[in-house]
Amino acid sequence: MNIAIFASGTGTNAKKIIEYFENNTQVKVNLIVSNKATAPVLDIARENGIDILVIDRHNFYKTQDILNFFNEYSIDFVVLAGFLLLIPSYLTKSFENKIVNIHPALLPKFGGKGMYGMNVHKAVHEAKEKETGITIHYVNENYDEGAIIFQAKCLIDTEDTPETISNKVRILEHEFFPKIIEQTITNQTET
Ligand code: GAR
Repeated sequence: MNIAIFASGTGTNAKKIIEYFENNTQVKVNLIVSNKATAPVLDIARENGIDILVIDRHNFYKTQDILNFFNEYSIDFVVLAGFLLLIPSYLTKSFENKIVNIHPALLPKFGGKGMYGMNVHKAVHEAKEKETGITIHYVNENYDEGAIIFQAKCLIDTEDTPETISNKVRILEHEFFPKIIEQTITNQTET
């Protein structure tokens, strides 16, 4: 199984996923896709000898060129780890139940367009939520609406700020995302 990770940010999740599958003979991360040529995640790809594809937003929506790259790299599974563009329907259709995303809150709360990174944690803080967490879900053509695979929760204290909430959520992301990817892939190959 070959995984492509889509990421546009710092890439801490991408790093954990790469490390987790490093010595796995069945599953390999062999492509990092980003729409930002300067994204720090691309340095993580370079450090780990993983090929990079920088995509242009217009081409991503108006052509299906990316499917040629996926063929070339024999991509079976796609992981969104801090990728903020909506996935076009030609891709969700070709990779039905083979694209997963991590969202830094308990969907269906605090999801949708514009809800990413610190925006999510600020909204959670403002809403005075007592708990938050992570959601790992399949990706369809709408933001944050695909079937939920896994959620994990953490408590929010009255002293918490958006930053401390973000730190708590990040710990859950790093602990669970690689394992849930592995489980999802394993379940699919067994059925
Ligand atoms: C993660 O917290 C992920 O949940 C979030 O972007 C961050 C990427 O961090 N994704 C979204 O908000 C998607 N709506 P990273 O670059 O350090 O992995």
